[in-house]
Amino acid sequence: MKVLGIETSCDETAAAVVDGDRILSNVVSSQADLHGAYFGVVPELASRSHMERVAAVMERAMRAAYGPGARLSDVSNLPRSENSMRRSDVWDARRPVARSGRLDAVAFTQGPGLAGALLVGKVAAQSLALAARLPCIGVNHVEAHALAIGLACRHVFPYLALIASGGHTDLIRVESPGRYRVLGRTRDDAAGEVFDKVAKLLRLAYPGGPAVESLAREGDREAVRFPRPLLPGAWDFSFSGLKTAVLYHVRDSGLKPQYPRRFAADVCASFQEAVVDTLVKKTLAAARRFRMRRVVVGGGVAANRRLRARFAEEAEPEGLRVLFPPAELCTDNAAMIAYAGALRLRWGGRAARRTKHRKCVGLARPEPAPFGCSGRLAVDPSLPIASWGNKSLTAA
Ligand code: KG4
Ligand code: ZN
Repeated sequence: MKVLGIETSCDETAAAVVDGDRILSNVVSSQADLHGAYFGVVPELASRSHMERVAAVMERAMRAAYGPGARLSDVSNLPRSENSMRRSDVWDARRPVARSGRLDAVAFTQGPGLAGALLVGKVAAQSLALAARLPCIGVNHVEAHALAIGLACRHVFPYLALIASGGHTDLIRVESPGRYRVLGRTRDDAAGEVFDKVAKLLRLAYPGGPAVESLAREGDREAVRFPRPLLPGAWDFSFSGLKTAVLYHVRDSGLKPQYPRRFAADVCASFQEAVVDTLVKKTLAAARRFRMRRVVVGGGVAANRRLRARFAEEAEPEGLRVLFPPAELCTDNAAMIAYAGALRLRWGGRAARRTKHRKCVGLARPEPAPFGCSGRLAVDPSLPIASWGNKSLTAA
């Protein structure tokens, strides 16, 4: 099943084509340069930039998947008999690639994310789906991060997913596609967000994660003992206290920006260690408590090498397997959106496929995911994961 995915939830305009679990193309156009001056995403600039880029990025994804002659206009799914198809038929004849460039569906990030930015991806996906009469599937961004490992490894279910990104730090028990239990989530600042804020404080760069990680390599992890917000008794995460501790440490140093490189490197290394310690300890404790043998770490922060090394160090002696998608599938990308869309089409496909033949194809509302053999998941999986509540596995 070939699905074109579109991701515009934050500051990456991305499009990709996947065929089952095979990535045919994965194009990401980052807006980091645009937001760098502000050390964070400016929502209005992001939506405007998505509007400027999205069509070209979709075209690039089609060409990368099907060859240089492939066009978005080739994906039409209209029956040949329809009048409106005539023009496309002429185009098809001129471009033989059109036949192989067919898509089965279009998927887009429905949420969570910046409202204006999300709207651009949604309109792009729905327009293409409407014109080509394809099913259009809204995907939950966090769910896509949690499932992205399926593009790199097979037979991973069930697993405990830690999603650490710019907007989320969530622990989710993933039984199978569509069957989740949210164990803990972000209470305030997400892990990636504090990386960004510490980078801003030290006047490094945006996004902050890679900048902090790179400078941390020159620093001493023991230089400052920052707090480890473990929140005993809860599986939630809270990093705003750690952020404030870094802020006070920098302020109390009496130094002024530009900070000496050695000082900034020590702050980065000590701060990174506090985040990594918290994520690793909490996740492994949850894996033990819920008897999960496999842990999957996703989201932008999962690209962090120190986090990967610490997970490997601590999990191996316990016989736990910790899996990381390749870095390009950890940070925002559309391959994970297309893949999650394809899975959803498979598990809730009836409603989506029915729309294929309707005259006007709108958004195919994803069917609730199946629960066990009899019941149904009592939530709409396209809603932000935060609104699922801990009862997300309650059968209706
Ligand atoms: O998943 P993602 O690309 O976008 C969201 O869904 O938010 O995650 C972006 C976040 C940013 O906050 C960025 O600073 C962080 O992931 N990040 C990292 C690294 N690479 C990206 N954090 C720590 N270490 C990294 N190497
Ligand atoms: Zn993300």
